[in-house]
Amino acid sequence: MKFFVDTADLAEIRDLAATGLLDGVTTNPSLIAKAGRNFIDLVAEICEVVSGPVSAEVAATDYETMLAEGKHLSKIAPNVAVKVPLTPAGLKVCRALANEGTMVNVTLCFSAAQAILAAKAGAAFVSPFVGRLDDIGQNGLGLIQEIVEIYNAYPAFTTEVLVASVRNPIHVVESARMGAHVATMPPNVIRQLAHHPLTDKGLSQFVADWAKTGQSILDQKLPVRD
Ligand code: E4P
Repeated sequence: MKFFVDTADLAEIRDLAATGLLDGVTTNPSLIAKAGRNFIDLVAEICEVVSGPVSAEVAATDYETMLAEGKHLSKIAPNVAVKVPLTPAGLKVCRALANEGTMVNVTLCFSAAQAILAAKAGAAFVSPFVGRLDDIGQNGLGLIQEIVEIYNAYPAFTTEVLVASVRNPIHVVESARMGAHVATMPPNVIRQLAHHPLTDKGLSQFVADWAKTGQSILDQKLPVRD
């Protein structure tokens, strides 16, 4: 499973990229507003830090303007994935950009029917929002299961399932069990994945026991080999 970070905070992106665990970045207009930076400059900088797909979302909602914005955004860097909303106009833009070889992430997907349309429109990614479905009492992970099952039944669908609106490690693990290709997570969820209380407890014990030996690994000579 690929890991994308869902943020426009460049410091966080640099920090996570340095771990070697980051495969891409997703942004959205709300995250860009929070960052308070010039959109194009920020996306260009993110694209220099991360070589994988960096999603940059169009702002308009009509076909002509979305298409023009998508073409503009795609020129920032070769790894930009233009993000369009899952609307009839957005799907039309997706098809036009995909035909030109641009990666498109179709976002705001809340049903399997919408996901089928995204695949037919040639999307590189479809973004089903699990957390927002959970928030209204629907089964976010159930939607991931449905989409993975449908896409697997049609090898001609090359669209990757990008699990979005991820709120906790359970969303990530369950999506991985279902075979979703990508999860995009806020930085805190990526960090939560590494934590387990027994890891912390076990490590403290090992550190304490090692100190009792009075040894230092780096001070010891390696055996001489012939
Ligand atoms: C995905 O691309 C979206 O930016 C994101 O996952 C939305 O998450 P939220 O529901 O936490 O805002």
